[in-house]
Amino acid sequence: MTENTADHLKAYPPTAEFAAAANADASLYDRAAADRDAFWAEQANRLHWHEPFSRVLDWDDAPVARWFGDGKLNVAYNCVDRHVIDGHGDQVAIHWEGEPGDARAITYAQLLAEVSQAANYLTELGLRAGDRVAIYMPMIPEAIVSMLACARLGLTHSVVFAGFSPSALRQRIDDAAARLVITTDGQWRRGKAAPLKEAVDEALIGGSHSVEHVLVVRRTEIEVPWTEGRDLWWHDTVAGAGTEHEAQAFEAEHPLYILYTSGTTGKPKGILHTTGGYLTQVSYTHHNVFDHKPGQDVYWCTADIGWVTGHSYIVYGPLSNRTTQVVYEGTPNFPDEHRHWQIIEKYGVTIYYIAPTLVRTFMKWGREIPDAHDLSSIRVLGSVGEPINPEAWRWYREVIGANTAPIVDTWWQTETGAIMISPLPGVTTAKPGAAMTPVPGISAKVVDEEGNPVTLGETEANGYLVLDQPWPSMLRGIWGDMERYQATYWDRYGDKGWYFAGDGAKLDTDGDLWVLGRVDDVMNVSGHRISTAEVESALVGHSGVAEAAVVGASDDTTGQGIVAFVILTAEAKNTGQDLVAELKAEVSREISPIARPREIHIVPELPKTRSGKIMRRLLRDVAEGRELGDTSTLVDPNVFEAIRTQKTNW
Ligand code: WT7
Repeated sequence: MTENTADHLKAYPPTAEFAAAANADASLYDRAAADRDAFWAEQANRLHWHEPFSRVLDWDDAPVARWFGDGKLNVAYNCVDRHVIDGHGDQVAIHWEGEPGDARAITYAQLLAEVSQAANYLTELGLRAGDRVAIYMPMIPEAIVSMLACARLGLTHSVVFAGFSPSALRQRIDDAAARLVITTDGQWRRGKAAPLKEAVDEALIGGSHSVEHVLVVRRTEIEVPWTEGRDLWWHDTVAGAGTEHEAQAFEAEHPLYILYTSGTTGKPKGILHTTGGYLTQVSYTHHNVFDHKPGQDVYWCTADIGWVTGHSYIVYGPLSNRTTQVVYEGTPNFPDEHRHWQIIEKYGVTIYYIAPTLVRTFMKWGREIPDAHDLSSIRVLGSVGEPINPEAWRWYREVIGANTAPIVDTWWQTETGAIMISPLPGVTTAKPGAAMTPVPGISAKVVDEEGNPVTLGETEANGYLVLDQPWPSMLRGIWGDMERYQATYWDRYGDKGWYFAGDGAKLDTDGDLWVLGRVDDVMNVSGHRISTAEVESALVGHSGVAEAAVVGASDDTTGQGIVAFVILTAEAKNTGQDLVAELKAEVSREISPIARPREIHIVPELPKTRSGKIMRRLLRDVAEGRELGDTSTLVDPNVFEAIRTQKTNW
């Protein structure tokens, strides 16, 4: 980690002051390297075990790991009860800030009472350990309470982002055979109440399904459709339940949650996480990567609980570490672009964790907006979701971090469950744009197609990121499809037993790691993972579309933007522009507004290889306005002339 190599002009060493008080120090790397099992056992003992474990890792059934397999614990007890028992019941767990400006401070004692009520009522409904519960809610405290109540009872939750469509919700409910859906009447979106319960009803229309009850929290007070017997109001049921509930211990490998994420096919993958190893790693990384000090820091992760970042770094990591955190319901520009900075001032936020796309949005809005506020409480800045470009990194540090706050660029995935590669504040000399090094206890490699280590400093993007050792918070499979689990992650370097992450990466001349982005057909739009196949299938679902190809083209703000090329059916031709708008709306409806294409080009043909494979690489060249790459494998190289003409005419 020397300064001034070709890869960077300036590196940022920690200040002596920060290093002296930091949770982490360089010895963590040595201890993890000396005895990995002992290291993870030590981290696991950050938690309360109802029954201690005797074995750390059992990898005999690879690629399905068992961590701390004979230990027993309760996740909710670790996130709530033990802090109250330890005398911290009056500490605020959640400073909740509603979009319309309403606010609630919830102490650990209150959180315990609410989680207990929900646990008692879910038990009364007949739900038992192992059952699945879908949670489809905006960022309100009851969403977190619901997750913790499930965890407490050994129910496996499946949180579905409240921006997802009824059909996406339906698919997820069916795949997991959820018995209960927890939702709200509506959600606040820029001052307007948008219906949500209605979407649940739409998802449940017709056909057989597993859902017995829909539990509804009142949030916006808009009218909701109601099915007597099936639908239940939270305020009539949970709110009146007993506030005491004794947490029971579950095995360390008991399923905690399923979270769906996009893969390279149209069908989302239900990523399965379990309890002991997962909680160990989210707790350990939250402590060391964010340098979190319980009772002192005010932490704010701006993710939504619909994504893994919300699971690991709003709910399980922070609460297991007795964090006081801000949870905000709305968007960063409602009622105006000052909202985040006002929240930081109001609560004295010290640790702030966001996605690069938001940094770039703030840059676009102008530095005078954050400059108008006192952000001096901030001492650690986090980034997640996509590579952060050096320019955004420097702006983030200078404008938001007063040129002193360390930035932790955290690489991980829904599948990894917790942070894997990141600088450690107070330890690492960071470089703008680099995720740097695996955290202590984690092992990663950058290798070529054959599995050979790449040459340091090689800029050519021929490196693939692999994880060559199992880790505690790793996924335990894809729900209901273990073959896909094997094929997606483990077959690529099957003989070596490495996990294939799907990301390109390089090592600079210092050996530090830079993640370059997806190498599969998965796009990254504002840090959200969307598969090209999913968008294509939504497009061809429209009667006017004969064929569609979708690519992610680089975008200044969102990282990538979705660009679609479609061939119309004979009947639909000549409808022109209107159809483009309709197709964009169709994708929003079918998947979610986040999957809405930035551009749709109507083309006469798509570039295909002789084996019929669409050449996405070439379409990306077109979408990004580049000279075409190698077209020699195309059946008809002239197809591009036609596509280009169409594109410029459009
Ligand atoms: C993909 C995982 C991890 C929570 C949010 C996204 C990309 C994530 C970084 C980073 C470069 C990153 C990767 C990864 N990614 N963090 N710090 N630097 N790329 O979770 O939806 O499962 O997406 O996001 O491409 O594979 P996810």
